[in-house]
Amino acid sequence: MDNNQFLLPESPIQEIRHPLLEQKQVKLAIKRDDLLHPVISGNKWRKLKYNLIHMQSKRCDSFVTFGGAFSNHLYASAMACKTFNLKGHAIVRGPILDENNPTIRMARACGMTLHVVDRKTYRLRNDGDYLQTLQSEFPNSFIIPEGGTNQAALSGVIELAQSLPPSNYVVCATGSGGTIAGLAKGSPTNTNVIGIAVLKQADYLNDDISQLLTNSHSGASWQLLTNHHYGGYGKFTDDVWTFCQLMRQTYQLPLEPIYTGKMLFAIWQLIRQDYFPRGSTIMAIHTGGLQGLDGLRYRGLISR
Ligand SMILES: Cc1ncc(COP(=O)(O)O)c(C=O)c1O
Repeated sequence: MDNNQFLLPESPIQEIRHPLLEQKQVKLAIKRDDLLHPVISGNKWRKLKYNLIHMQSKRCDSFVTFGGAFSNHLYASAMACKTFNLKGHAIVRGPILDENNPTIRMARACGMTLHVVDRKTYRLRNDGDYLQTLQSEFPNSFIIPEGGTNQAALSGVIELAQSLPPSNYVVCATGSGGTIAGLAKGSPTNTNVIGIAVLKQADYLNDDISQLLTNSHSGASWQLLTNHHYGGYGKFTDDVWTFCQLMRQTYQLPLEPIYTGKMLFAIWQLIRQDYFPRGSTIMAIHTGGLQGLDGLRYRGLISR
């Protein structure tokens, strides 16, 4: 594998114009990282890039990673196998695997080997002993954590931060905290990085993010907002989904309601509530994950 194949042109930035933004005198733009790569898009690519480079430098012949059956990370990792001709194993949260689930079908079609485990075993995904066992089961493999979040992932997100024009606020959806950590590390000190937690009771993520930032963090200040989960992980309200559809129709901006839709809906509410001072510039990061729409349709959670 040659590192040059990982060099991608930067994704575009889309400016949003709307009477609310004019009334509140704020500027809103979207970094369209969903358009970064045709199949491994968004923060998944940002987080995988340096993991794959690391794997290559360690001369590992495969990687092992973890994901739920509908996970964007599983999809992106499978796509990376296909695109870069890699061998990949995924430990998938079971207890059973629905072979008709679109993410699983795609992962199989990409040639990824799936190992379904029960929930109890899956909970061990960050446990040192369990990881040792996996390492002996898959010798010469590089282990990538769930969601792709580790120090190597941060390097890719720092590149994203450094590609952005100056703005007062950079906002992203937060699940494991890797993306907000990378953005905080890579953004200028006068930028405020805001993470919209997409899960309930997400305050524990503050510690996870601080830990990811330990090596002398000298970037931007950051803040995690935990009241915009709209029902919790994988859940969403009708308002969030209606907003996603409206954004697609009005701005040709595709969103899904689990991550990016929640994030932009939250930004909209925050603008209404005058959270951002007049004159602020806000950069919202579209972190991709649009494959998730197929999973939501498959489960009958959305109709279109
Ligand atoms: C589309 C999308 N956006 C945002 C996130 C959250 O990123 P992080 O886990 O780095 O906080 C995820 C999950 O990883 C995701 O799939």
